[in-house]
Amino acid sequence: MRRCCRWFRRHRDAGPPARRQPGVVEGFRDRHVRRRGLARLARHPGLEGIVLDLPHAGPGARAAAAARGLDDRFTAEPGDFFSEIPRGDLLLLKYILHDWKDENCLRILANCRDALHPGGRVVITEIVMDDRPTGIGPLMDLGMLTAAGSRERSLAQFDTLLSGAGLRRVAATPVQPPYVVIEAVPV
Ligand SMILES: C[S@@+](CC[C@H](N)C(=O)[O-])C[C@H]1O[C@@H](n2cnc3c(N)ncnc32)[C@H](O)[C@@H]1O
Repeated sequence: MRRCCRWFRRHRDAGPPARRQPGVVEGFRDRHVRRRGLARLARHPGLEGIVLDLPHAGPGARAAAAARGLDDRFTAEPGDFFSEIPRGDLLLLKYILHDWKDENCLRILANCRDALHPGGRVVITEIVMDDRPTGIGPLMDLGMLTAAGSRERSLAQFDTLLSGAGLRRVAATPVQPPYVVIEAVPV
């Protein structure tokens, strides 16, 4: 996770946001996501954070935000990303798409596109399989296939999903291999 942290460090210094920027931080179950997401909110008083997840994730996320004194700028919203995603400038999807088959991913991504404020972007963190995948990639791919009928994807496969949802990749930053942070904007 160290390199992933590096990516966030680089981007956090882009300067404080000029206006209030709601962001959706998906799936706060993970302690790392929670720590980084809340740290980002703490650093930028102009940010508002929303977690969209199933109802089970709400109490833990709210408690973590309250413990940091961030509850006035943080909302844990129970919901379904197949129906509607809260509007925001930055929509973060970490380890979400690999849980789902292509048709489901297209729906999630299209809902993200519809939820973006003008000038906003979707940021996806996932394993990206290259031509000769090594390490945890193939194992995770097999695991996702057996557990959910889904898969880990190559960058070309992410591009196909993005374009099917009316989005376009503008950056792909490798973090800790085989993880990549993909940024996309509406076409
Ligand atoms: C693999 S976990 C990833 C969690 C977290 N982002 C992380 O990095 O560890 C997938 C998350 O998606 C949430 N989830 C599953 N179905 C959902 C749905 N239909 N709408 C919103 N969230 C959902 C789960 O509750 C879970 O927190």
